[in-house]
Parts: sequence; C-alpha cells; structure tokens
Amino acid sequence: MEQYHYIARMDESERKTVNLHEGIESTVAIMRHRLGSNNRRPEIILKKLFGTIPNIKCYAGLINQVFMALLSNAVDAINDCSAEQLRENPPTLEIITAMAGDDRIHISIHDNGTGIPNAVIDQIFTTKRVGQGTGLGLAIAHQIITERHAGKLTCTTQTQVPNTGTTFTIELPINQIAYSEPTQSTQSSKQSTPPLKANTSAIK
Ligand SMILES: Nc1ncnc2c1ncn2[C@@H]1O[C@H](COP(=O)(O)OP(=O)(O)OP(=O)(O)O)[C@@H](O)[C@H]1O
Ligand SMILES: [Mg+2]
Repeated sequence: MEQYHYIARMDESERKTVNLHEGIESTVAIMRHRLGSNNRRPEIILKKLFGTIPNIKCYAGLINQVFMALLSNAVDAINDCSAEQLRENPPTLEIITAMAGDDRIHISIHDNGTGIPNAVIDQIFTTKRVGQGTGLGLAIAHQIITERHAGKLTCTTQTQVPNTGTTFTIELPINQIAYSEPTQSTQSSKQSTPPLKANTSAIK
C-alpha cells in the first residue's frame, strides 16, 4: 500500500531532469550490503557498462524504485542458485546502458541466477499474483515504466541452460514531455496522466 500511495501522489513537480547513471549508482550503494559474500557464495561481481546517454526528465524517485526492484530480484535469483552452480559460475550482475536509436535509451540488468520458470513468466507483470513475497515489485515497476514514462519493460530468461539467467530491459523515450505532462489550461490538447492504480485487493 505504501508504494501505491507514493505513486498516486506523483505530480509534475516530482519530475526532474536527471543523470540515470547517478540513480543506478545510488541504488547500488543502498543495496551494496546484499552483494557481499556470504556462507553460500562469494561476492557478486558487478559489471557496469555505461554508454553515453542524455539526462532525462522523469519521475526520478520512481525510476530508482524500478532499479531497486530489478536489482533486488536479481540478487534473490543468484542467492537461489544451488551451491554447485554458485561454485561453477561466479555470481555476476551486469548493468548496461545504451542509446536505442535516436530517441530512446535502454537500461539492461542481467543476472546469472536461476532464470524465471515458464509457469511464473506470464504473470510477473500483473498485480494478481499471490504467494511469494508481496509479489508486487515487478507489477509496480512495469506500471512506472509503461504508464508514467511511456516506456517498455521486457524480460528474457532461461532456466534450461544453467547460468544463462535473466535480463530485464527498461526502454525509455528520451523526450518524456510529450507523454506525461499533465493537462494545463493553456495546453488543452495534451493528455493528463491518470494516477497509477495497483490492484489493491491483491495487496492486502
Ligand atoms: N531476475 C530474476 N530471476 C529469477 N526470477 C525472477 C527474477 N525477477 C523476478 N523473478 C521471479 O518473479 C517473481 C515476481 O517478482 P516480484 O519482484 O514482482 O515479486 P517478489 O520478488 O516475489 O516479491 P517483492 O514484492 O518482495 O518484490 C519472483 O518471485 C521470482 O519468482
Ligand atoms: Mg521482488
């Protein structure tokens, strides 16, 4: 519920022009303790392959929330690997940023964890899941990217080939203004963005 209220409260004043690499770095710093070695595995190797991307005017707090959801799932998936898998393949997280054409950017987060089983994959972006965790991390992340930023959130994953793992890719249009600026009295042709609505019955 906390997340839902947070998203619903967002308005134009929350949009800031930011360097997304700084958002990634600060999110990584917050969860740095989860990357360290433990009694089951060595430290997770973090590779950052940052391309040249422009600053973007976005709901920066929400975008950081998406980074956090994806990175924390990636660490969970690595932690869920068997001791043997962890011994054979050093646990690795890769964050790649790049331009996609002239007008969009891609941010990919790859892990060599368990992969997402077919039975789960079709449901990962819905709010209807029950059972594991609160299970809303990806549903909220998907809403933030698609409804708030006119972007896309996609996933490729592999459970059959060991240690292929999972990649989530965020695609964001560089020019956000055309998509999500609320209606102004002087700009009546622009669409307002309705508040995001999670399926609250699934959150209880
Ligand atoms: N990188 C990943 N590798 C493997 N499985 C994943 C990955 N990301 C998500 N999943 C699967 O998708 C499910 C849904 O993820 P989601 O973040 O929405 O919920 P959750 O992690 O279960 O709970 P929480 O609300 O605490 O995040 C996870 O439970 C997990 O089974
Ligand atoms: Mg999660």
